[in-house]
Amino acid sequence: MKNSDLVKAARQARRHAHAAFSNFKVGAALEAADGTIITGCNVENASYGLTICAERVAMFKAISEGHRRFKRIAIVCDTAAATPPCGACRQILWEFGGNLEVILANLRKEMARHRLSALLPLPFDARFL
Ligand code: THU
Repeated sequence: MKNSDLVKAARQARRHAHAAFSNFKVGAALEAADGTIITGCNVENASYGLTICAERVAMFKAISEGHRRFKRIAIVCDTAAATPPCGACRQILWEFGGNLEVILANLRKEMARHRLSALLPLPFDARFL
């Protein structure tokens, strides 16, 4: 699958974002090892604190559907600068996805690619338990 297909899926997922409080809509598309694309969007809540980011929605959906190995994630926001995943999402993506390729894009173009290990150096994970 092409990077642009994954970005396209993330843009499509972003349309479902429930961002009534921040109005900051995010879409994510995760590619599993078998090529399946699992999408997510941010879902906000009146408590604010119970909000969940697009990346974690995508990962938890994937895990709940039986996927265990992943290749890449595309993350899309409507911003001029590439928006990287928050710290909580980096942790969850690392624990379930390992050293994923992270593709950052906006509504028009792809803007950056990173390895998750570069975004989360010295991670805590199950190896330490
Ligand atoms: N958000 C994401 O969905 N992903 C990120 O990586 C950063 C932030 C969401 C959470 C909240 O709904 C809104 O963006 C503003 O923080």
